[in-house]
Amino acid sequence: CGIVGYIGTEDAKEILLKGLEKLEYRGYDSAGIAVRNGEDVRVYKEKGRIAELRKVVDSNFETSTGIGHTRWATHGVPNHENSHPHQSESGRFTLVHNGVIENYEQLREEYLTGVTFKSDTDTEIIVQLVEHFSKEGLDTEAAFVKVLKLLHGSYALGLLDTENPDAIYVAKNKSPLLVGLGDGFNVIASDAMAMLQVTDTYTELHDGEVVLVTKENVEIKDIEGNVITREPYKAEIDASDIEKGTYAHYMLKEINEQPAAMRNIIQEYQDENGNLKIDEDIIKAVREADRVYIVACGTSFNAGLVGKEYLEKWAGIPTEVHVASEFVYNMPLLSKKPLFIFISQSGETADSRAVLVAIKALGHTALTITNVAGSTLSREADHTLILHAGPEIAVASTKAYTAQIAVLSILAQVAAQDAGIDTGIDLLPELAKVTSAITTVIDDAELMEKIATDFLETTRNCFFIGRTMDYYVGVEGALKLKEISYIQAEGFAGGELKHGTIALIEEGTPVIALATQEGVNLSIRGNVKEVVARGANPCIISMDGLNQEGDTYVIPHVHEMLAPLVSVVTTQLIAYYAALHRGADVDKPRNLAKSVTVE
Ligand code: G6P
Repeated sequence: CGIVGYIGTEDAKEILLKGLEKLEYRGYDSAGIAVRNGEDVRVYKEKGRIAELRKVVDSNFETSTGIGHTRWATHGVPNHENSHPHQSESGRFTLVHNGVIENYEQLREEYLTGVTFKSDTDTEIIVQLVEHFSKEGLDTEAAFVKVLKLLHGSYALGLLDTENPDAIYVAKNKSPLLVGLGDGFNVIASDAMAMLQVTDTYTELHDGEVVLVTKENVEIKDIEGNVITREPYKAEIDASDIEKGTYAHYMLKEINEQPAAMRNIIQEYQDENGNLKIDEDIIKAVREADRVYIVACGTSFNAGLVGKEYLEKWAGIPTEVHVASEFVYNMPLLSKKPLFIFISQSGETADSRAVLVAIKALGHTALTITNVAGSTLSREADHTLILHAGPEIAVASTKAYTAQIAVLSILAQVAAQDAGIDTGIDLLPELAKVTSAITTVIDDAELMEKIATDFLETTRNCFFIGRTMDYYVGVEGALKLKEISYIQAEGFAGGELKHGTIALIEEGTPVIALATQEGVNLSIRGNVKEVVARGANPCIISMDGLNQEGDTYVIPHVHEMLAPLVSVVTTQLIAYYAALHRGADVDKPRNLAKSVTVE
């Protein structure tokens, strides 16, 4: 979910709606705004996208203060009642919330048995409790703080009170939230991107802080009421980076931006002599570790699988890759000197953050690799490496994945060099070759569209197979395809399919085989024969030099350890066109959100 708030002199409705549009990547099950003219508070909310919400907002209502929310449902189905903002019984208080309140049922039993709730959400408890305590005589701020002290869970909150019309009450714990500063107005937002339209100056908020935002002032306090001063910073995002431009979809734009992202990374991680460089402290942390634990979710996890190979094969450091949501509840026996690497495009994923908090409590060191400087995972880790891929808006991650792999390759290479290990690869020119190979694949987009038509037009399912590095790409290719086209897709190790899943192969089942690794080229082709013998329709994506007659598409030759950076682009484009042909919403697939800030 994402929240915004505005208090100033301009038309709040439009600023909030525009802000929410920029936050739709955080969820789009429903959306709502509450706007106020003096004591008159109007709540507009609607199931579905911001575009739906726009239709129900009364454009004639004059207002210069309000809060807004776009939802990714956790508690309660995505319907009108469960949409934010939520109001207290009397309507005095109105609230938007990003996060999850874990103890809402206990709180309701303890304090609010007589109150009729309007929704099934965990959020409503907060606004009803504020009213409950203010009825007991507390002023709004005191009631708000009292409620915060009772809550277990995560929240970013914006609260309006009809009796104190000149303020937005704000608080944060675990969920991201920023205050944006303007001349004669102030804003709040889950992400600076939402409010770049009005300001590029932001102040970070920390967990446990409570903030009173008025037109002229922002007062930050800790939960005990001590006033906190913090310097604002300028958000370095170019507003044009977050527009689609001439592309039909953000996803296509971002796929096309991959060569530029590669060039940026090559430039950013190079010193003036043209040598790869990574902050010495980070290399020291990697060298001192006896084992690396990569922790991530979704596409970032898949990038971690590839990164593990670099750290082990080049830098000689044993590396494990873990899904964050599992790791936190089932921590493996850790080595004596572990280094944790968190990979996260957004730097906000709650599952990953939960692990970060847990391992920091154990006294371990963390490095975050993220696209968003200043994000939670970056701030809270000991070290950060930035992806320099530019904002990624489409829910399905593309350029962040390739950027993550490129940065991991550089990290492993520099660590190896530092240890005096010859990796046998001259990484900079090899990455340059990768950049032009990606460009070739992108130029062949029409061929990818044809693959999508020939193999995926009507199918219900699809398998990706590969061995070693290609297996990891297959897993990511399958994730991309299912995320946006809803075709059931799985990535398998070529040799594993026959141990069960081959039972699903029927006449015409598409199997996309990746063949970019010399050592396993013959065995993966053997696996293709096995599925063809059962009726599969094989699509073979190989690499120049390893190709055979009849291969469907051949990527240009690159160093085989870097082949995932190129082969994955074919799968991104195939997924894109498959989704497009099915009429699916490419940038905003159903049920998903780009940044999931709840565990
Ligand atoms: C969400 C997105 C995925 C993404 C994952 C991890 O589930 O839908 O595309 O890979 O979160 O996000 P992160 O920002 O941590 O890389």
